[in-house]
Amino acid sequence: MKRIVLVGYMGSGKTTVGRQLAEALGLQFYDLDWYIETRFHKRVPEIFAERGEEGFRDLERRMLREVAEFEDIVLSCGGGTPCFFDNMDYMNSLEGDTVYLRCNPEVLASHLKMARVERPLIKGKSAEELEQYIRESLAEREPFYSKAKHIVDVSLMDNFDKISITIDLLRKELGV
Ligand code: S3P
Repeated sequence: MKRIVLVGYMGSGKTTVGRQLAEALGLQFYDLDWYIETRFHKRVPEIFAERGEEGFRDLERRMLREVAEFEDIVLSCGGGTPCFFDNMDYMNSLEGDTVYLRCNPEVLASHLKMARVERPLIKGKSAEELEQYIRESLAEREPFYSKAKHIVDVSLMDNFDKISITIDLLRKELGV
C-alpha cells in the first residue's frame, strides 16, 4: 500500500507535481481543494465567501479525514491544510509518507502572480503586497510544514521543463 501526501505553500507546485508523481507510480491522484469542490459543488472562493475562512477550515479538516484514508494515492493538500487543528499530526499518523515541497518566497511569488484571483487569501494584492504576505505567512507556516516526514526543495522548479527534475528528486527521497 502506498500513500504519499504533499504539503507546502500555495504555488509550490503540489498539484502539478502530485499529478505527475501519481502517474509515474501508477497511483490515484487527489487534490484536496478539488475534492472539497466536487463534494460541495462549489469553488473554494465561494466557500470562503459564504462560510468565511473558519467555515472553510472546518470543511477542509473533515474532507482531509475522508480522502487521506484512501489507499494507493498521492494527495495534494491546500497550502493551509497542515496549519490548522491537528491536521499535520493526523497526516503523519497515517501509514505512508508526508512530503513538504519547500520553495523560496521569490519563486512562490512568481508562480502566484498569475493565479491570484482563484485564491481568496491573496486576491487583490499588488505584486509588493503579495511578496510581503508570502514572506510573513511562510514564516508562520514553516514550522507546520517542516513536521512532514520528508522535505524536498522545489525552488529549482521555476519553469515547467524542470518538473521532471523534481519528480526524480522525490522518487529518490521516497525510494519509489
Ligand atoms: C490556501 C491554499 C489553497 C486553498 C485555499 C487556502 C492557503 O490551496 O486551499 O485558497 O491557506 O494557503 P493551494 O495551496 O492549492 O493554492
